[in-house]
Amino acid sequence: CGIVGYVGKSQAYPVLIEGLKKLEYRGYDSAGIALHKGNQLMVYKKEGKVSALEDFVQGKDNNSTVGIGHTRWATHGEPSDRNAHPHISNSGNIAMIHNGIIENYAQLKQELLQKGYHFNSDTDSEVLLNFIEDIQKNNACSLEEAVRIALKRVVGAYVILLLDKDSPDTIIAARKGSPLVIGIGKDAHYLGSDASPMLAYTKEVVYINDYELAIVKADELVLKNLGNEQVTPFVQKLDLELAAIEKNGYDHFMLKEIFEQPQTIFDSLRGRLDLKHEQITLSGLDKISDKLQQANRIIIVACGTSWHAGLLAEYVIEELCRINVEVEYASEFRYRNPIITDKDVIIAISQSGETADTLVAMETAKKQGATIFGLVNVVGSSIARISDAGAYTHAGPEIGVASTKAFTAQLAVLYLMALKLAEIKQTISSETYQVLFDDLAKVPKYVQWVLDTQIDSIKRIANKYMDADDFLYLGRGYNFPIALEGALKLKEISYIHAEGYPAAEMKHGPIALVDEYLPVVFVATKDSYHEKIISNMQEIKARKGQVIAVVTEGDEVVTSLTEDTIAVPRVHEIIAPILSVIPLQLLSYYIGVGRGLDVDKPRNLAKSVTVE
Ligand code: G6P
Repeated sequence: CGIVGYVGKSQAYPVLIEGLKKLEYRGYDSAGIALHKGNQLMVYKKEGKVSALEDFVQGKDNNSTVGIGHTRWATHGEPSDRNAHPHISNSGNIAMIHNGIIENYAQLKQELLQKGYHFNSDTDSEVLLNFIEDIQKNNACSLEEAVRIALKRVVGAYVILLLDKDSPDTIIAARKGSPLVIGIGKDAHYLGSDASPMLAYTKEVVYINDYELAIVKADELVLKNLGNEQVTPFVQKLDLELAAIEKNGYDHFMLKEIFEQPQTIFDSLRGRLDLKHEQITLSGLDKISDKLQQANRIIIVACGTSWHAGLLAEYVIEELCRINVEVEYASEFRYRNPIITDKDVIIAISQSGETADTLVAMETAKKQGATIFGLVNVVGSSIARISDAGAYTHAGPEIGVASTKAFTAQLAVLYLMALKLAEIKQTISSETYQVLFDDLAKVPKYVQWVLDTQIDSIKRIANKYMDADDFLYLGRGYNFPIALEGALKLKEISYIHAEGYPAAEMKHGPIALVDEYLPVVFVATKDSYHEKIISNMQEIKARKGQVIAVVTEGDEVVTSLTEDTIAVPRVHEIIAPILSVIPLQLLSYYIGVGRGLDVDKPRNLAKSVTVE
């Protein structure tokens, strides 16, 4: 979910609506706002996207200078008007929005029901709100005090913003586990799940820490811990331009972000890949270099697309650095009592830096003595802050819900890490180092080549297959994670069922799906397995499957097997995946657009999953 708040001297409504639109990537099942009006609270909420809320508020009173807003990704309770935030407490005195999950809500709800409370929604959030109200009533205390007491009893993750009918100039906010940024403006404060809603107004921000409470007025920001002690806000300057979070003439953020990749990969390498001295500098890695060299193993934890980057890193690091690497879904790792020692190094990969499962997986490993390295895109995010060391990917803000440029930036930095470590450990020859170094430096140029020359083929192929019901994506070796990522991208954007599989493993099951209607995408650039994957292609063709192939430029063998090929430049097989994913991103994009779907905001998904 995304949350926003405004308290100042100007109109709150436009700030909240524009802010919610910037945060819609975090969820778009419903949207709502609460505004102070003297000693009244005005609440408007609607199922659907922020634009539906705007239509709903049209013509209604929204004159106010203090307000909070929410865009929801449903957890407890279906997407509907009644489950939309803000919620209002039983007395009607408090309005609240919440991002996160209250794990002990069922027990709290029982207690409240026995006391005669009623609920207008199925959400855990409304339970927390009335729990706070009940504490305030029983202790005859301020709302701030009640929030503090409540949060000591609440299990789970939250950012909450509250409006109190009796304090028309104040927003109360608190966080644990979910992100909260407060922007400092002129006679105004802005609140958001990230800094994007406030970027048009200020560059001075405070990232609120876990277990902190903020009492926010137009001209005053007071931070306290749950022990009621005042905390000094640490004001940071944002290094982000508004243009970075706008579409700049592209039809969709996803397309813009795909086309940004020559630049974003360059930015990820910049200052790290020293062409003159053929050296790699990664200060984050230096910090844990001893640990890494002595490490028993590296465990990579991540979710979604970031997990695919991790899987490729396993192949690359094991090959180049001869260290045992394991890749874990963060959500599984955190619950299965893994064996971890202080000789383990954890690499957490995350675009947002806020994914709840990844965050807890790191914390679990940290408690058991492991060293934590965070590979994160969003500067100042929770994962970045709890890591022992780390590197930022420098892809810039990624708004499209399906990850593209963040993925290739992750790969770029993982390549740097593997090469640097291999150099330190002397596990590769200087010739191999040289070839990989040179190829990596050329990746931005090669990606540009794909974007300049392959769009027509990709559009043609997208058009030809966009009505298919299923797709299979196959790859071997370094291209196997790319087959998984290609399938995920298609599922997310087009709602076509797609499966990624190791090409050879295909004969142990998925081959049963093959008939003349099944498009099979081969990630088949020239590598050590090339002949083998051509055999797999023949196996598909023999069963009348439709073969689409990502090939190395000039590959006549595959081109003679299928007319549906997309080319990428020839590079070392270890570097090839960062190129072969580009056509697959575009294929999903054009199929999604062809099917008339909202590719930037696919149904049911959210970009930043701050609940487990
Ligand atoms: C969500 C997004 C995916 C993303 C995953 C992990 O599911 O929709 O695109 O890959 O979360 O997110 P992270 O921010 O940790 O990389």
